[in-house]
Amino acid sequence: MTIEIKPAKASCNYQELVKHDRVHTSLYTDPAIFDDEMGKVFYSTWVWVGHASEIPEAGSFKTTYVGKQPVIVARDRKMKVHVLLNRCRHRGATVCEHKKGKAASFVCPYHGWSYATDGSLRGVPHPEGYADILEKGDHPLVGLRVEEYAGMIFATFKDDIEPLDTYLGAAKKWMDLFMKQGGGYPVKAGNAHRFRFPGNWKIQLENTTDAYHFPLVHKSFLSSVDQQTLDMLDFVEGSGYVEDLGNGHSVMVMIPELVDLEANLDAPIPARFEELAQQLREKHSEEEVRRIVRAVGGSGFNLNIFPNIACSMAFFRVLQPITVDQTEIHHVVLTMDGGPEEANRTRLRMHEHFQGPMGFGTPDDSEAWERVQKGAGAGKDLWILLNRGLPKEIETEDGRRSDVSAETGMRAAYQQWKKLMTA
Ligand code: FES
Ligand SMILES: [Fe+2]
Repeated sequence: MTIEIKPAKASCNYQELVKHDRVHTSLYTDPAIFDDEMGKVFYSTWVWVGHASEIPEAGSFKTTYVGKQPVIVARDRKMKVHVLLNRCRHRGATVCEHKKGKAASFVCPYHGWSYATDGSLRGVPHPEGYADILEKGDHPLVGLRVEEYAGMIFATFKDDIEPLDTYLGAAKKWMDLFMKQGGGYPVKAGNAHRFRFPGNWKIQLENTTDAYHFPLVHKSFLSSVDQQTLDMLDFVEGSGYVEDLGNGHSVMVMIPELVDLEANLDAPIPARFEELAQQLREKHSEEEVRRIVRAVGGSGFNLNIFPNIACSMAFFRVLQPITVDQTEIHHVVLTMDGGPEEANRTRLRMHEHFQGPMGFGTPDDSEAWERVQKGAGAGKDLWILLNRGLPKEIETEDGRRSDVSAETGMRAAYQQWKKLMTA
């Protein structure tokens, strides 16, 4: 199905507001631009809605949003994945308010219309009131177009845009690399830390490929790790890079040795994982131990998939725009499905350490994002600079690349944003 998109206000001249090396602050603050980008970005491209492991069985479901639209991601009896608008076809109530679960059907709480997990309308209480004027086949929950790559499920309102495969393009090989952090087991998306910050969604989108902030904003995190980890995370002037992968996607490689988690497994095990390795040796071969331990530490890169999902070291960062100055973030922990308990436990502790509400990382990021929004409201003619790393930027097979602290990823995202907003 396609959502009708209202024409933008005359004041929204996106060619003027987005330059190749800067964007205007109204992109963070103008509610008219926010409304417009719901239609032209979120209802016009592929949007991430979940990972296959979140809905493992027939009848499994989760609820989420595509832009402002509530949806249910459900696996039907034949294991097919559907993304359904969470809106009863009678008088519009949401038919499911659970975050996730398993169901044989979705029953609307208002008058009891019930829908199968593929969205078809199954039952209507007291049908005699309709005599022959209600054809059930005409009133299923409305479905979006759905496609999947590497277990990542995406949906779109558009029937006429490119296949997901083409849209992801050069990002696909990075998704494959990222999924190696299963350490020989399937990657399982677990529960999430959820929080909101008072700022525009694009501030967070920028942050996923922002190495420049790391040593400063994450000082408290860096003071909480051992010397070996500290050396590993000292990457701002290292040999890493940021690459524009096309269609708004980008990757920031912070630790080049950890791009392919299965390469060079003979390298010494870092001291912080030695205890875990020792525990694993009781039940696993040395090769398995090394593969699992390597995977637990996560990938050495952050992959930003435009517009709403990041594969960041060892977790998914899901971005949900609420209003022009309010954004919800879900930091989803990734574990090894069926993998060793001690390895998954280490993963959870690492996730809490950086991403948790009392963590040493995310709360500091969130403070910085909040300040960006606050500062952006001060004055009309300010620009957000995105020119860092331009002098060293080179053309590559997949797009453009510069050093690790370059703003190449942000430039990539805003060029795609402009393309969609002016289409
Ligand atoms: S609104 Fe759902 S049954 Fe009436
Ligand atoms: Fe950060």
